[in-house]
Formats: sequence, structure tokens, C-alpha cells
Amino acid sequence: MTRVIDLRSDTVTRPSEGMRQAMAAAEVGDDVFGDDPTVIELERRAAGLSGKAAALFLPSGTMANLVAVMSHTRPGDEILLGDQSHIFQYELGGAARLAGTMTGTLTNFDDGSLDPDQVLAAARTENLHSPGSTLLCLENTHNRCGGAAVSKKATDSLAEAAHSRGLSVHLDGARIFNAAAALGISAAALAENCDSVSFCLSKGLGCPVGSVLCGSPEFISIARRNRKMLGGGMRQAGILAAAGIYAIDRNLQRLAADHENARLLADGLRELGPFRPNTPQTNIVVADVVAGRLNDWLAAFEREGILAVAFGPQRMRLVTHLDVARADIDEALSRIQRMIGAVPV
Ligand SMILES: Cc1ncc(COP(=O)(O)O)c(C=O)c1O
Repeated sequence: MTRVIDLRSDTVTRPSEGMRQAMAAAEVGDDVFGDDPTVIELERRAAGLSGKAAALFLPSGTMANLVAVMSHTRPGDEILLGDQSHIFQYELGGAARLAGTMTGTLTNFDDGSLDPDQVLAAARTENLHSPGSTLLCLENTHNRCGGAAVSKKATDSLAEAAHSRGLSVHLDGARIFNAAAALGISAAALAENCDSVSFCLSKGLGCPVGSVLCGSPEFISIARRNRKMLGGGMRQAGILAAAGIYAIDRNLQRLAADHENARLLADGLRELGPFRPNTPQTNIVVADVVAGRLNDWLAAFEREGILAVAFGPQRMRLVTHLDVARADIDEALSRIQRMIGAVPV
């Protein structure tokens, strides 16, 4: 049977044997009582990596963002965020429905950043008629912008604009370590001027579950209450946190290999003709289909054991990760080459 090369997302990785052993051996407590030693250790390490004083382990990146929005705002406040951001596009409007905030969208540049002048212009002061804008949400790397790594300079000037108007800043750093690897800078430096930053363990780091939200101790104690309210308080969560610690120790350093594989994949797709891919900075390839229909290509890919997702009317996304080797990229490209002629263009 053809080996499936799964490029739908970096969330599809399976925990390695070593990670499973670390999970099985984890010392646990009850994290809602605050006495799970492995969760405490993961949160300590996450705080260190993000340069923040405290951290909170959560089940998912979506919950980390929602808890961040809830903890920085009051219902009725406005949050400013990019029109291509994950929070705006893919989190089911939780910021509105569950945090009670309204969203003010700013146009994302292709490099994943926003215009600080737009932040200044959009930030509203509360009065008898208007809600107050109290939070700016940023994203790095930027998923819909093809895994763009947003520079520290751009992040800092956006944070400065937001702070000058009294807004807090949350950074959705689901893939912040990919950004850090691509830019040759620490995640802590990238998040330095943001009030909170979340990152996912279940993407490039290869864990089955989990995200961490980092910020000041005061912010994290509010976030802990909000996590509990949302049903995200987990009991013997050390089993999951152990995977996170294992990943921080073993999988952080290898992200550049995923970036290299994404570049090879994009270069190969470009040469084949029907695709116009981005030049990936990190592990996300977005490719416009310029000959034939997206759905025909995706179906042909699937028949040949290559999984990718639709990312727009004529755009697909392919993501490299821990379970995709250099040889898989070569193999995927040769399978795609064999499809040319068979897919109607
Ligand atoms: C930028 C970004 N933020 C947040 C999330 C949400 O993470 P989760 O799937 O763990 O809820 C994702 C997931 O793809 C993402 O790409």
C-alpha cells in the first residue's frame, strides 16, 4: 500500500515512542488543586522560554486564545485583530460569543503584520456611545499568510502603538518557535513587548495535545479562573504535560529542518507548473492552483496518498512537520509529477 504523506497540518504528528514513554512515566497530581508536579514543571519551562513570569497549561490553542481574550477584556469591549488572523477566521467567533467582545478587524499585510497607524486610528476610547478597544491580538507565525515569521521590529511597533492607546497585546504564537527559528531570535525576544503569548505543543513540537498561555502572575491567575469556567481544568494532566516537556527538550531544535523541507516542496511545486507556491519562511506552503481545479488536484493527491487542505477557492496548504522527512518531500513531488496530464487543466 502507498505510504500516506500527510501534509494537512503540523497537528497530525503521532507521539514518538520516547514521548509515549515519558507520558507513561509522568509523575502526576491534580492540576485543578494545583499540585500536579509535571504540569508545574511544564509551566515553569514555558514561562522561561516565553520570557514571561507565569504560564498556564491548556488543552488547545483555541482555548488559549479565548482565555487570553477573556482575561484581558470585559464583555462589551472591542478587540482589534488582523482580518486574516486565526482568532477571527477559525475560532467560531468565540471572542464574541463567549468573551462577549466585539472585533475590529485591521487588514493583514502579506508578511503577517499590521499597520501601527491603523491600530492608532482604530483604537477607540470608551464613551457614552462607543465601546472601548482594550486588546490588540497579533499572530506569529501567521498561518493564513503562509507561515510568515513576523519580525521583532514589526511586533514591537504594533505593541507600542497599542500600549500608547491603553490596549493590552496578546500574541497568538501557536507557532512562535517556528518564527524564532526562522528569524534567528528567541521566542522571548519576539514576545518581549506583548502582555501575553500562547504557543502550541501539538503543532511543530509534536505533542498529542496542549498549549500554554504565558504572561504576568496576575494575568495568569485571572486566566486560570477563566480556563476553569470554560471546562479546561484538567486533573492528572501531568501525563500530557510530560509530552510537552519531552518536546521542549527534543523537538524545539529541529524546526529548521521542517522549514528546509517546506522550501524544497515549494520549489518543486513551482517547477511542476500548475502551482504557484509562496516562498515559505517556515513550515507552511500555500500554493495557488493556476491550471486545473483545486478540488481535482486535491482528489488526485489523495488518490496518490498525499494529503493537503483547501485554503481558498484555488489555493491549497501543505505543512511540513516532525513526521515528514526529506525523502517524503522527494516522494511527494515525484507522485505529483506523475499526476500531470491525468488531472484536467
Ligand atoms: C495561528 C493559530 N492559532 C491558534 C490555533 C488553534 O490551535 P488548536 O487547534 O490547538 O485549537 C491554530 C491551529 O491551527 C493556529 O494555526
